[in-house]
Amino acid sequence: MKALVLCGGAGTRLRPITHTSAKQLVPVANKPVLFYGLEAIADAGVRETGIVVGDTEREIRAAVGDGSAFGLDVTYLHQDAPRGLAHAVVIARDFLGDDDFVMYLGDNFIVGGISGVVDDFRRERPDARILLTHVSEPTAFGIAELDADNRVVGLEEKPQEPKSDLALVGVYLFTPGVHEAVRSIEPSRRGELEITDALQWLLDRGFDVRSTTISGYWKDTGNVTDMLEVNRSVLETVAPRVDGSVDEASEIIGRVRIEDGAKVFASRIVGPAVIGAGTVIAHSYIGPFTSIAEDCRIEESEIEYSIVLHRASIVGMRRIEVSLIGHNVEVTPAPRTPSVHRLVLGDHSKVQIPT
Ligand code: G1P
Repeated sequence: MKALVLCGGAGTRLRPITHTSAKQLVPVANKPVLFYGLEAIADAGVRETGIVVGDTEREIRAAVGDGSAFGLDVTYLHQDAPRGLAHAVVIARDFLGDDDFVMYLGDNFIVGGISGVVDDFRRERPDARILLTHVSEPTAFGIAELDADNRVVGLEEKPQEPKSDLALVGVYLFTPGVHEAVRSIEPSRRGELEITDALQWLLDRGFDVRSTTISGYWKDTGNVTDMLEVNRSVLETVAPRVDGSVDEASEIIGRVRIEDGAKVFASRIVGPAVIGAGTVIAHSYIGPFTSIAEDCRIEESEIEYSIVLHRASIVGMRRIEVSLIGHNVEVTPAPRTPSVHRLVLGDHSKVQIPT
């Protein structure tokens, strides 16, 4: 069995963060979301992994390398433009050969990994197995219709009038039968070869497509609330440890990981939280469910339930909550007179200021 991991796509829903980084590299508890997927693949006993890359190929290669850090053997497959998930299967034909494979969307996060569904698939070996989850915005996903016996009877990509709230999660298991399906379908309204249409093609011809419904799923809806929520749930599992330095005037409470070279002065950190390597926290309060990435500076500030990406600096801020702060961002107080907000914000930034 092989794995096919999809890391193309422009990441428009996660702007402005994705102006300068691949959406698959957005960190959750200071680790790129893609890494959780690669670990889940390795845990499921799969080694040979093809990663389909597009415009952000350089960043993905720099982060993942040859895959050996994950126990994987990675081959990169270049897709010239985001032409759809089924198109990724078309271009991976030679790599996949006649093996079964698990296709994994690199921006999806699945709590609890995929070993269970991969084992079910290996045992039962239907033509395809899909994962489903209940969602509140079915128009933003591929949607499945099940009959009274929970058999998949129909699939539709981003339907205007959804027949259920069961969305296709970005993990699919296939036997080589899918190759004929992806070659036979036509591009959709958005101009992409949809894997949903390939699955419908299989259903129409009587192939056996089974489903597993899961909970604990997150996709980059561009909704910061979702990112903070998945960050919260992962932080609740981090092992507390202090590799950096904490002075005597500081207090560390609960599940807190302080990475190598981080320095904490006269501050209070209440977990669960992670503080990245090389970050300096001084005279500050870091509250629960906060991930501060590497080489940040937090001084005279309070921050809680937030994600801060690397090299950001936050000085003199009371108080930041429910926020996602990008790479190299600087947040500082404005001069007291005149009392104004001074903003230099990138495209697609979102700011909420009390009035
Ligand atoms: C893709 C699929 C969709 C699926 C979703 C899961 O959507 O086309 O069926 O529900 O991934 O992440 P996209 O991310 O291309 O909008």
